Amino acid sequence: MKILVVGGGGREHAIIKKLKENPAAEKIYALPGNGGIAADAECVAIGAKDIPGIVAFAKEKGIDYAVVAPDDPLVLGCVDALEAEGIPCFGPRQNAAIIEGSKVFSKDLMKKYGIPTASYEVFTSPEAALEYLETAPVPTVVKADGLALGKGVTVAMTREEARGAVREIMEDKKFGKSGDRIVIEEYLEGPEVSVLSFTDGTTVVPMVSSMDHKRAGDGDTGPNTGGMGTVAPNPFYTEAVAAECMEKIFLPTVRAMKAEGREFRGCLYFGLMITKDGPKVIEYNCRFGDPETQVVLPLLESDLLEVMQAVTAGKLAECEVKFRKENACCVILASEGYPGSYGKGYEITIPEEVLPHVYVAGAALKDGKLVTSGGRVIGVTATAATLPEAVKEAYALAEKVSFENKYLRSDIGQRALQAGKAGR
Ligand code: AMP
Ligand code: GLY
Repeated sequence: MKILVVGGGGREHAIIKKLKENPAAEKIYALPGNGGIAADAECVAIGAKDIPGIVAFAKEKGIDYAVVAPDDPLVLGCVDALEAEGIPCFGPRQNAAIIEGSKVFSKDLMKKYGIPTASYEVFTSPEAALEYLETAPVPTVVKADGLALGKGVTVAMTREEARGAVREIMEDKKFGKSGDRIVIEEYLEGPEVSVLSFTDGTTVVPMVSSMDHKRAGDGDTGPNTGGMGTVAPNPFYTEAVAAECMEKIFLPTVRAMKAEGREFRGCLYFGLMITKDGPKVIEYNCRFGDPETQVVLPLLESDLLEVMQAVTAGKLAECEVKFRKENACCVILASEGYPGSYGKGYEITIPEEVLPHVYVAGAALKDGKLVTSGGRVIGVTATAATLPEAVKEAYALAEKVSFENKYLRSDIGQRALQAGKAGR
């Protein structure tokens, strides 16, 4: 079976490594992949947003199955374009990917179907938004409607900060057309939990929960990043919370999408906040999270390819999806300076025994050597019976990977450990 994976980060590396466990996956192409993924798949220099290029490549190679991992191609209709050529895909169609592609859509969906989320207002002009902010309670949260490389959200502690965000998004057009509309919403408090789920549009199977660490610095300080590390499971996601989420959020969301004629098949990501009034949706993503995937998939006991194909076929109910009752920790090794500017092109050394734990995010091959090419360079994941062991092991492995300018947070997993539920 020839498989194509669209994307080229740590998440895609984790997906590819897991797919490879099935011997039926004879050949895997990554578009565009990266220098590290090249050890596990054939990387082809076609960008993840180049839909015609992806489709032409898939036809030429006779691809049997495609996994579209990143948000951009999903929102641009990559799955629709591949399906039109008869290629089965894992990932939502364009009309369902809108659940991530438009915050206004997702907020309106939640309101219409009574799914718990922060209260909000939508604005289409900066004047109206600025006027609203005169009297809005603070802190408040300003969100660009469309995709913004994960940077479209400002949690504003003051009115001035909120006004600044409105001006940047709507007047300076910092995120282009993604900022034509904005959502201003109620500030919520509580621990955050990420839950990725498999859904075929009817059945929804949550994966093991996880916790991201989005800020660049220790103790959740510094600027927001794509994610500096993750642990799974998330101790704040108790069995009682999970049951409430299933009843009030997961099933209602999947049913709502179907009722809207936007059946969602793929990985639906629930970004949740466990508030004192119960779990609420902070955001939906139409895809696997990064770096959540790097802790979730290593705990998946079932065969990923089989589960994905069951999702595509609408037969998820017939498929057993099992996770190991273990813990995982992923530590991201970044380039010093990230998420600001940083140097590139430094040679990376990874000892043989660490390779199975490595998910490469931003590295290129230069004269046969792996060199840094991105802000987030590598994720290193360890799994163990308990969370303290997984964290310790992940840091021991991270220590063994070397490159100039290496930067990592030293406290990944600490919040989860302090939650006092380590080891389950
Ligand atoms: P997002 O890009 O939607 O994941 O938002 C980025 C981060 O902003 C989230 O992970 C939360 O930490 C924070 N955030 C988003 N919405 C809210 C909210 N309504 N209240 C408090 N924090 C929020
Ligand atoms: N880690 C959050 C995301 O993938 O959007």
